[in-house]
Amino acid sequence: MITVRVPAKINLQLSVGPRREDGYHSLITVFHAVSLMDEVTATPAPAGTGIVLSVEGEGASTLSTDDSNIAWRAARMIADHADVPADVRLHLSKGIPVAGGMAGGSADAAGVLTACDALWRLGTPRAELELLAADLGSDVPFLLSGGTAVGTGRGEVLSPVLTRSEFHWVIALAEGGLSTPAVYAEYDRLRPDAPEPHLSEPLMQALRLGDATALGATLSNDLQMPAVALRPALRRTLDAGLEEGALGGIVSGSGPTCVFLARDAGHALDLTVALSATGTCRSVRRATGPVAGATVVTT
Ligand code: C5P
Repeated sequence: MITVRVPAKINLQLSVGPRREDGYHSLITVFHAVSLMDEVTATPAPAGTGIVLSVEGEGASTLSTDDSNIAWRAARMIADHADVPADVRLHLSKGIPVAGGMAGGSADAAGVLTACDALWRLGTPRAELELLAADLGSDVPFLLSGGTAVGTGRGEVLSPVLTRSEFHWVIALAEGGLSTPAVYAEYDRLRPDAPEPHLSEPLMQALRLGDATALGATLSNDLQMPAVALRPALRRTLDAGLEEGALGGIVSGSGPTCVFLARDAGHALDLTVALSATGTCRSVRRATGPVAGATVVTT
């Protein structure tokens, strides 16, 4: 039996360019893996069992357990790639909010690729795993590697960013999810002439220096405007976090989760308590980043 832990991601910068011919958007993003984790357990199953998926935890009842779940498809993909029978029991223990803009599904897919590779002793070369990951979804390659990285293309082309120090995040979970394609469609409606995106140099500088105050001031997300348009209550959450003294606050990815940067661990705790008391979100978590990507924790 193999257990893999895999983190959530937030985007410190998410700059979305024009819609491409394949329907995706060219983008420049800075991914940052944070310590909100899903756990994927892969157990051997007798020949002919197929892929049997079960899910528990945060939002589990809303998830499918058939081939419409990206975790299921990840197992099928790596089995086909290695030409081995796809017989495995997979169990997901969810700590990452479902449809929250933190790449929970992509995290599970990265976890399953890692777990099946270990369970079936495939030794798949890293570059091949990354190609499989990119076929599964734009965020999946990043969840394999974790840390902090610049993503280009549709988000799947990565280059790591060295950061100084650990950052403390406060994560405000919302009621229900938002559909990523719907948020991109709203972006197209609001910004029909989006320019080609550029990497933020002040953000890179803040990361190099480990300067939380500068980082807070440079967080940006082009999908925030459409996410707030679809879910106006998010404005109240964002305002509440900033009024309570966060160094910066943005919608995470396509939302509706909002993330706030704290000065240090103590400030994160104060901010968590204060934000919970405002009643503007379903629940509030703390996390640190950067953390490693999908990692085998028990065999
Ligand atoms: O790649 P992934 O399946 O995670 O993307 C989910 C959806 O998000 C896509 O179907 C597309 O609508 C949108 N998307 C996009 N441009 C990107 C990444 C995702 O339009 N670069």
